[in-house]
Amino acid sequence: MELQEAIINRRSVKNYTHDMQIDEEKVMSLVELATYAPNHGMREPWRLVYISKEKLPEFANEVAQAAFVNDENQQEKYINKVTKVGGMFVILSKRDSRQKEDLENQMAIGTFIQNLMLLIHEAGMGSCWKTPEFIFKPKFRQIVGAFDDEYVNGFLYVTEKDAKVKVMNRKNKSLISYW
Ligand SMILES: Cc1cc2nc3c(=O)[nH]c(=O)nc-3n(C[C@H](O)[C@H](O)[C@H](O)COP(=O)(O)O)c2cc1C
Repeated sequence: MELQEAIINRRSVKNYTHDMQIDEEKVMSLVELATYAPNHGMREPWRLVYISKEKLPEFANEVAQAAFVNDENQQEKYINKVTKVGGMFVILSKRDSRQKEDLENQMAIGTFIQNLMLLIHEAGMGSCWKTPEFIFKPKFRQIVGAFDDEYVNGFLYVTEKDAKVKVMNRKNKSLISYW
């Protein structure tokens, strides 16, 4: 697959209306490839926690209770939605007390996840990076096993491709100025 094609046609899959299956073994091999992302000082600031299709109902149930306390309606909606995806990662990254290194780590996470999303696209699957409010809750951090020196950067849902998702054209206003 051409790189330009992959960059333009990779899409965030946001419809979870049917039960999806993915090639987990393939996805795991893509994670290792994605780590060839640039990262300053070779700090490799990333860590992923994988929730397999099989584990999703139990995980979704725990997360729903922590995220939507006393709101059974929301809990049920959440569980119904996320258990449809093929599997998901929780994205974690190293916190650094030094401002420069901390910023570099966060930028490296973006390059790593973009690599992974492009590779997933090339392998015929879909994905979506998700950052719901509840990822900052201590209870959620505890459920996913985040260490004290880690940020939670969200989820990466791994899905089937969704042929109906359209390319959101970029505005590219003031993209480049000349000095
Ligand atoms: C850091 C980050 C966080 C995101 N969080 C969410 C999210 O919480 N929910 C969601 O539906 N999409 C989320 N997205 C996906 C973007 O909304 C998506 O990239 C955008 O709609 C453009 O679509 P495309 O990826 O298909 O080009 C996130 C993307 C990034 C890079």
